[in-house]
Amino acid sequence: MKKVLILLGPPGAGKGTVGNALADEWELPLISSGDILRENLKKKTEIGNKAKQYIESGELVPDEIVIEMIEQELKKTIYINGFILDGFPRTVNQAKMLDRIVDNSTDLKVIYLKADDDFLVNRLSNRRICEKCGKIYHLINIPPIKEGICDICGGKLMQRVDDREDVVRRRLTVYKEQTAPLIEYYRNQGILSIINGEGNLRDTLSEIKKFTKW
Ligand code: AP5
Repeated sequence: MKKVLILLGPPGAGKGTVGNALADEWELPLISSGDILRENLKKKTEIGNKAKQYIESGELVPDEIVIEMIEQELKKTIYINGFILDGFPRTVNQAKMLDRIVDNSTDLKVIYLKADDDFLVNRLSNRRICEKCGKIYHLINIPPIKEGICDICGGKLMQRVDDREDVVRRRLTVYKEQTAPLIEYYRNQGILSIINGEGNLRDTLSEIKKFTKW
């Protein structure tokens, strides 16, 4: 069976952190729509230029841009045996696009990482990202060995532009309005598990594996 895991949850709930850990363990590729968009932004591609204003203000990038981008990505042969999705789908339209490519040979599971707004604002203020390889750190919970430097590649650690408190609050509102309806969407299909996103990483991963049985 082809394994497809969707990581759903508000900004800062740990989708990227959990997704990277599971991708390593299960040897499945991870698709992060946010990372692909930021890469396009850095390279100043057409997608990047179109997405910039939305990302920096905490709004969702329009469906037509993101759906086309993910459709193109999924054509790559590395995804043939399955994949983990971080940050996609984020609207009902995006979920419907995914429905079209999921068939009976796919074991589709959805994890909703749940966490409170104030917890998330606080957590994101301590997030740092390697500007070279994208590895995610937390200054208190998951700090680098050497301050400001990535353990993996030696790159410089930076703060994301959308991790400013006012932008994080806007992202949380957008999440509630446009993404949270997907919880019901997948709960109705019987493939969703709600997992505490505020716990430590080891417990979160173990809860997820109990649910997926992968
Ligand atoms: P995106 O990059 O997807 O951001 P997000 O969904 O807001 O989520 P984050 O990346 O902020 O958080 P996360 O849940 O991955 O948490 P993380 O693991 O880093 O999207 C950014 C923007 O791109 C959007 O606003 C939008 O504009 C656009 N976009 C992207 N996808 C789109 C789509 N499909 N449609 C339209 N627009 C789209 O963890 C956070 C911190 O907590 C880290 O410091 C980490 O080290 C720490 N941490 C995580 N888990 C734990 C743990 N268990 N214990 C201790 N610390 C932890």
